[in-house]
Amino acid sequence: MCGIVGYVGKRKAQPILINGLLRLEYRGYDSAGISVMEETGIKTIKNQGRVKGLLEVKEIEDLKGTMGIGHTRWATHGKPSAINSHPHMDNEKTTSVVHNGIIENYIELREFLTKNGYKFLSQTDTEVIPNLIHFYYEKTNKKDKMDFVKALKQAVEMLKGSFAIEVLNNDFKEEMFVVRKDSPMVIGKGVEENYISSDIPAILSFTKDFYLLNDYEFAVLSKDDVEFYDINLNKIEKQPKNIAWDVSSAEKDGYEDFMLKEIYEQPKSIRETIGARITLGVKSTLDELDFTKEYLESVDRVYIVACGTAMNAGMTTKKILEQFCHLQTEVDIASEFRYRKPLITPKTLCIFISQSGETADTIAALKLAKEHGAKTIAISNVIGSSITREADYSLYTHAGPEIAVASTKAYTSQIVLLAIIAIYFAEVLGVSSRELEELKKEILEVPKKIEEILDNTEKIKDFAKRISNEKDVFFIGRGIDYTVAMEGSLKLKEISYIHAESYAAGELKHGPIALIENGITVIGIMTDAELAPKTVSNLQEVVTRGAKTLVVTNQDIDKSMFDEVIEIPEISEYISPILSVVPLQLLAYYISKERGLDVDKPRNLAKSVTVE
Ligand code: G6P
Repeated sequence: MCGIVGYVGKRKAQPILINGLLRLEYRGYDSAGISVMEETGIKTIKNQGRVKGLLEVKEIEDLKGTMGIGHTRWATHGKPSAINSHPHMDNEKTTSVVHNGIIENYIELREFLTKNGYKFLSQTDTEVIPNLIHFYYEKTNKKDKMDFVKALKQAVEMLKGSFAIEVLNNDFKEEMFVVRKDSPMVIGKGVEENYISSDIPAILSFTKDFYLLNDYEFAVLSKDDVEFYDINLNKIEKQPKNIAWDVSSAEKDGYEDFMLKEIYEQPKSIRETIGARITLGVKSTLDELDFTKEYLESVDRVYIVACGTAMNAGMTTKKILEQFCHLQTEVDIASEFRYRKPLITPKTLCIFISQSGETADTIAALKLAKEHGAKTIAISNVIGSSITREADYSLYTHAGPEIAVASTKAYTSQIVLLAIIAIYFAEVLGVSSRELEELKKEILEVPKKIEEILDNTEKIKDFAKRISNEKDVFFIGRGIDYTVAMEGSLKLKEISYIHAESYAAGELKHGPIALIENGITVIGIMTDAELAPKTVSNLQEVVTRGAKTLVVTNQDIDKSMFDEVIEIPEISEYISPILSVVPLQLLAYYISKERGLDVDKPRNLAKSVTVE
């Protein structure tokens, strides 16, 4: 949530900052702004609305400085407006700050500062930060940069909540300052230039070498150097990590939108996720895990915890873990899990899934599990992200950067990786069955089968046209197909703003059927041979009441009663969501296009939710 960028080097900072912000816009797009260090001091330009609006401000061309900071906002405190946009400055206009996160005690801090003569222009929580820095900096000798870092430290020690902060001060024409706690930020190392960003893809075209900052670590960036300090202001050394992502993976590559590109990338991303992790006839190797049979036998329960699409991916794994490994498995939403006092013991195994690895609720849930002594596994797409640094074990999906706010390729890669983990557990536990080997074979065949679906999208496009003006759409399924109904419905509401609901098909008659009337669209998913006839009956009930129906299936059912049937290749019902979701992703995409919406940046949403 909110994107921050920074640059110091030998080139003009303004275009680099704007370029970075455009790439980070999926984190929030309520307003944008930059501060650049000019010979005369800090110059700030900010605006309500999208980043491109900044380019229309005449003065933007006057910014010649080679060091600056920038921000694209997802509003929390204070409505989207120019005054609430970042960067924010202190009353004396000496210090400029951009911030991602939430300062929970900002009211208290405002009172403290007001008593000390400070005034506030915006409604944001952020504005306390430059003023607090000013307050403490004034108390130092203002001799050198360490006095400023000391003031920054004193200021952040007052803050409760989460923050990634970049700071410019008029006394330092060649250095900028950063610190973080519980909000993402990476530092990119270049040659005679250094970068800051909320995430890696935004600056991937400039560098592939990144430093990761831990909570309460400070960095001072200049053209030629990055210095790091711990909370006691002792200098620390850090080695940059090289990120193997390819630059084009963060570009649209000829596709109209990132979402469409990412849907089409799924065969490739799944191949990357599988990698060398499974081979037929050979026990699965997961270099990242070292579990023994004794350990897995002692596990009292497995929790899979995540948010949004990642949670929907987690839902698909319960069946494999329970049936193949006999591990009692519960799947939970991170924001619920963290507050419901779940039963966690040292024998509990907790798996946390997060594409970004920075979702605040998922990180908090992970910390809770650790406090109770559970073993923790993180599944993420982003190397070095916060959950991977917190967890006992980390596994990466290797899906490449996902830019569109609505998650697609991350979801299918997460399901594949979770299935591989379940197979690994089963093999460690000594389960040797033909079904397990068959499942491995099926996983290896998934990329080709997705290609088949992607080669044949006419019916989906056509159905999207037919229902693009609907107000309500229902998604139903049973068993694993219900989990896909959840994801299909989430995709549709995220990017088309059509009210969509998912129901376990058997639940329809317990309430929602009251809403079914002539012309309402119901989408049924059927990949489980045992359950398909039952879902067919439920669909029959809505057809009788005048519903328009679309069915996604690989089952041999009577198709004549449905308005449209999308046939997908055969696949084990343990992993069928990897295929059955694809038509639903495309349906949501084409409906959004029909409605003329911004597919990649749906209103009010953000890709990475770093606040509670
Ligand atoms: C946001 C995004 C969703 C995503 C969820 C969890 O709501 O818009 O697409 O599924 O966060 O994100 P994570 O990075 O933890 O998987």
